[in-house]
Amino acid sequence: MTTYADLSSFPRGMRVAIFGSSGGIGSALYTMLENHPNVDQLFGFSRTHPDPQFRIDFTAPDSISRAVQTLSDIAPIHLAVVATGILHDDHIGLAPEKSWRHLNAEAMATNFQINSIGPALIASEVLPLMARDSKSVFAAISARVGSISDNRIGGWHSYRASKAALNMLLKNFALELQRRNPDGIVMGLHPGTTDTGLSKPFQSGLNHDLFTQPEAAAHLLTVINSATPENSGQVLAWDGQIIPA
Ligand SMILES: NC(=O)c1ccc[n+]([C@@H]2O[C@H](COP(=O)([O-])OP(=O)(O)OC[C@H]3O[C@@H](n4cnc5c(N)ncnc54)[C@H](OP(=O)(O)O)[C@@H]3O)[C@@H](O)[C@H]2O)c1
Repeated sequence: MTTYADLSSFPRGMRVAIFGSSGGIGSALYTMLENHPNVDQLFGFSRTHPDPQFRIDFTAPDSISRAVQTLSDIAPIHLAVVATGILHDDHIGLAPEKSWRHLNAEAMATNFQINSIGPALIASEVLPLMARDSKSVFAAISARVGSISDNRIGGWHSYRASKAALNMLLKNFALELQRRNPDGIVMGLHPGTTDTGLSKPFQSGLNHDLFTQPEAAAHLLTVINSATPENSGQVLAWDGQIIPA
């Protein structure tokens, strides 16, 4: 018997959008929601989507408004998850910096473009489409390392800073949304270290769990289902713990 994620806090017939549906965690979320009895319509957006209408590339911000146009036709949206992100990319020589000596303007700009600006532009297009007469969640996958108060070992300067910026943007959007839609939720999520291409080079010597992609997706859906308007503006970890700003 198939076991489905608990989405009982949302209305039946949910409309869901996953941005970054080609990624490790994004594709696992998509798979978990496909054929889910509570989900009426599911849309995945990615750089490599076979249908150009569903392609988003944060290096071409116009692609975001074009793609989100597709969603406006079926609004309201009950759940939108931004599962995009970058930490390293051999093709463009991007690697997390261990020291300020390794800072490079282009690499920093790429981190901010993909990890902060892209999700913010999606939020600006999607938040007006979120449901107002029921629970709705706009979630962006952030990372624990974006917490300033939790930072004890430093390093990964641009990635950390771009996730901290994302967390600030989410908090701002939560405050703005509260005035229009008090029941709407905007949140950041930390998936825990998950076996994807993004974490691959950094998995050796972990002193905690390495989640599979389906495990990470299941954890995140549990957190999303339990989230209430009090969580709006917060970043929650995979186990439901609030990550301090
Ligand atoms: N894995 C972990 O251990 C871990 C831990 C903490 C936080 N996170 C966060 O979790 C999120 C998902 O990461 P993941 O582990 O699933 O990594 P992943 O498998 O590398 O997926 C990254 C996703 O981001 C997309 N992306 C990259 N550059 C893009 C661009 N220019 N425009 C649009 N999309 C772009 C990728 O698209 P393509 O498929 O086209 O490359 C892919 O869909 C990220 O925000 C990451 O920071 C991950």
